[in-house]
Amino acid sequence: MLPIRTSWTMMSLIVVTLLSAQGISCTQTGPGTEALQAQVQRLQQRLDSAYTPGLGEFMSGIQVHHEKLWFAGKAANWELAGFELGEIKESLDDIRHYCTDRPEVASLPMILPPLDSLAAAVKKQDPAAFNSGFTLLTTTCNNCHQATKHGYNVIQVPTTPPFSNQVFSTK
Ligand code: HEC
Repeated sequence: MLPIRTSWTMMSLIVVTLLSAQGISCTQTGPGTEALQAQVQRLQQRLDSAYTPGLGEFMSGIQVHHEKLWFAGKAANWELAGFELGEIKESLDDIRHYCTDRPEVASLPMILPPLDSLAAAVKKQDPAAFNSGFTLLTTTCNNCHQATKHGYNVIQVPTTPPFSNQVFSTK
């Protein structure tokens, strides 16, 4: 066995040799600078034209989850209610990620406290807390629409289930 210090020195020597050998082989056999630049340009063009959903599309998704959340809670299907809450939170994360060009996103955090209290109600399986939490959530949707000059998009507590092909009650 070599002393530890010597084996470390040898290891670094091997690593340096391998790295420089790779460097040499890259410059000798890899694609030329021009070809690489053209490839980068093609990739940039593809990135620029890649489809990313807009804020309105995320909101339409949130609208569906908001509605399903209500009927899940009304049916005491707490597992589904928790799932729908998670979907709303995921959409909010996506908005923060994809809609950086929209100044309205700065108002988004106002929805977090109502979502948290609704999540607590769902966890406790508490129908009264769910009702009041859902009303607060819906009011906050509208508060943000007003704050961002989209006050004509009015959200209310749903009156009829959105889809006939999904069962909300577990009984
Ligand atoms: C940032 C604050 C903000 C919050 C919080 C918010 N919205 Fe919105 N919402 C917007 C903005 C801005 C638009 C307009 C998007 C656009 O320009 O397409 C919008 C649009 C909408 C639309 C119309 C979508 C369409 O294209 O028809 C619906 C429906 C909607 N929101 C539902 C909700 C619901 C439900 C909630 C609450 C769970 C909510 N929103 C919370 C800002 C918000």
